[in-house]
Amino acid sequence: MDYLSLNRKAWEERAIAHFDSTFYDVNSFLAGKSSLNTIECKLLGSVSEQSILHLQCHFGLDSLSLARLGAKVTGVDFSQEAIRRANTLAQQTKLDATFICQDIEKFGSTNTDKFNIVFASYGTICWLHDLSSWATTIANALKPGGQFCFVEFHPSIDLNMGYSYFAKQQPDVTTEATYTENQQSDTQTIATWPHSIGEVLTALMQVGLTITHFDEHPFSPYNCFDGLEAVPGHGFQLLHKGQQVPLLFSVMAKKHANE
Ligand SMILES: C[S@@+](CC[C@H](N)C(=O)[O-])C[C@H]1O[C@@H](n2cnc3c(N)ncnc32)[C@H](O)[C@@H]1O
Repeated sequence: MDYLSLNRKAWEERAIAHFDSTFYDVNSFLAGKSSLNTIECKLLGSVSEQSILHLQCHFGLDSLSLARLGAKVTGVDFSQEAIRRANTLAQQTKLDATFICQDIEKFGSTNTDKFNIVFASYGTICWLHDLSSWATTIANALKPGGQFCFVEFHPSIDLNMGYSYFAKQQPDVTTEATYTENQQSDTQTIATWPHSIGEVLTALMQVGLTITHFDEHPFSPYNCFDGLEAVPGHGFQLLHKGQQVPLLFSVMAKKHANE
């Protein structure tokens, strides 16, 4: 089965729906609000004058929020609908960002540009089968001394929902509605792969990156899974037998300054 085409079709539909959702709240972004969350802002620090490659950028809200902070951003996503909207938002806001419509594995095999920072966040690696290739794309795109900043949903959520925690050759193929509030009746068929934290960190270390930060977080900024409850001032949490389930993890990985 051609899982890449299956997922691309789903994301073409989701990009259209997400753009009109209150979940993504494009109007607030256009009015000046950043779409970035505290976790990634703290990890990234000042991005002024930094070149940033944003992998799986969707329709560019985070990419353009980084551009608003003075970064020179290149976003990559395989959805034409998403990239078309990202370009429109860049024109509307007059922000300096470049958007490339490509599968990230293909992008990685041809990209020769080097960046200070590679960034990816919230709902990215479950769409990728091969994390070795993903990590190679990241390492090759970093300048010497450059940093990868990654904030992702914790794989324990998959386990909680009855999916594997550990990597599998074959994806889970499911038909489900997306996570935005305006799309609870339409469904798409998608293929996703589980990736344990060990697999993620090993993939990054095997391409020569040094892990400089790793953390796990009990709160998610997004209400996008069953059973989450709001905790004012913190975001959303999930309790299992009264205890907080880890909902996010964050990684910073650095390329050696002499490479
Ligand atoms: C959950 S969204 C990422 C959300 C992101 N944090 C944001 O800015 O909203 C996942 C994105 O990955 C993209 N995607 C999935 N598989 C991809 C692939 N193989 N190559 C490039 N983009 C991909 C989808 O089009 C979608 O925009």
